[in-house]
Amino acid sequence: MTVRKITDEIYWIGSIDWDRRLFDELIALPDGTSYNSFLIKSKNEGLLIDTVDPAKKEEFFQNIEETKVEKISYIIAHHAEQDHAGCIKDVLQKYPECRVVTNKKCKNLLIDELHLEEQNFFEIEDGQIFQFGNKRFQFIFAPWVHWPETFLTYLPEERILFTCDFLGSHLATSRLWSEDNANIYHAAKRYYAEIMMPFRHLFNGYLGKLQNIPIEIIAPSHGPLYKKPDFILNAYKDWVSDKVSNEVIIPYISMHGSTEKMVYYLMDQLINRDINVTPYHLIYTDIGKLAISLVDAATIILASPTVLTGPHPQVVYAAYLCKILKPKAKYAGIIGSFGWGSKMEEDILQLLKNLKVELLPTIMVKSNPREEDFAKLSQLADIIAKNHSSLK
Ligand SMILES: Cc1cc2nc3c(=O)[nH]c(=O)nc-3n(C[C@H](O)[C@H](O)[C@H](O)COP(=O)(O)O)c2cc1C
Ligand SMILES: [Fe+2]
Ligand SMILES: [Fe+2]
Repeated sequence: MTVRKITDEIYWIGSIDWDRRLFDELIALPDGTSYNSFLIKSKNEGLLIDTVDPAKKEEFFQNIEETKVEKISYIIAHHAEQDHAGCIKDVLQKYPECRVVTNKKCKNLLIDELHLEEQNFFEIEDGQIFQFGNKRFQFIFAPWVHWPETFLTYLPEERILFTCDFLGSHLATSRLWSEDNANIYHAAKRYYAEIMMPFRHLFNGYLGKLQNIPIEIIAPSHGPLYKKPDFILNAYKDWVSDKVSNEVIIPYISMHGSTEKMVYYLMDQLINRDINVTPYHLIYTDIGKLAISLVDAATIILASPTVLTGPHPQVVYAAYLCKILKPKAKYAGIIGSFGWGSKMEEDILQLLKNLKVELLPTIMVKSNPREEDFAKLSQLADIIAKNHSSLK
């Protein structure tokens, strides 16, 4: 890899992970990812902004060498997760006088994770200004983007905002800068859906704070940097708002076809009523795609056969995903099939109970749906159409 200049004294020294396909053993990375680390040079000294994933350690140290600094004096650590903090211990071993500049929460997490010592740290407060060479660094605490310790760093003279995970995207690309295209929008939305969405209610406050400071560059630690910050700030404003879209999503499973008949019938009924609808067959679905659609869909319908009295385990997974990602959907419903006795509705409702949704009438069909069952699905489509009437 090679270093890239952001400004005269600010270098990108990160690493592109072209082939990584899974994050946290959970999140699919169809387009790989990158770990953006930055080095600010002052004479022969360097200050680092985050590091990279330990898997890219060698490349990271080569990049530091390429900047020709003689020592690293500070690392600003925005976040204790290993994809950014994973090389801190190695930096401290190579440059023992280096101090980790971070807040108390991050310090404690790093001590637990990397077994660092109290003396390795320079602890900072919200709003504090830190000087290195001719540059000023202002810290803006932003807890829960997406761990409790996270914060942002703003350089007032350069008008650069370093945001770590916030506003980032999992996207391996040789382009250092976002070119404002659909590709980056999509990657950033996937990233938001999978990682940031559960904390949505805090973000209006953060976005409001950022609106009050002049920003020319936003530098997250995954994916391209933004020279037109409005692109990503406006996208986030939209995603975190309470505005939902005229869309029904139907995560579903069907073992022998009954539930699937119900799903396809309901879809036709919705389409006839000018409602957008997407089925997610849970055996074939990229969970990231489901998460993306949860960002703005107004209605979620979970559809499942009964398996050993409850919902199919894949549907439990989807319902659990809804529970933890906390989408802003306004309506949710359950449809499905059973043979002799089912408590599937109860089990799914238990998983959805913390979502702030209005529940639609459940439709459970005994085995293969009959005409009267399809009539109930038409009525459900009528209710959804009424709910969505202001969204078209
Ligand atoms: C492995 C398995 C377990 C099942 N367990 C139950 C059950 O506990 N209670 C029930 O009412 N039906 C149960 N059924 C029956 C299905 O729920 C029923 O056949 C349903 O119509 C299947 O819907 P599908 O065609 O969408 O797969 C089970 C079926 C299978 C294959
Ligand atoms: Fe993270
Ligand atoms: Fe990250």
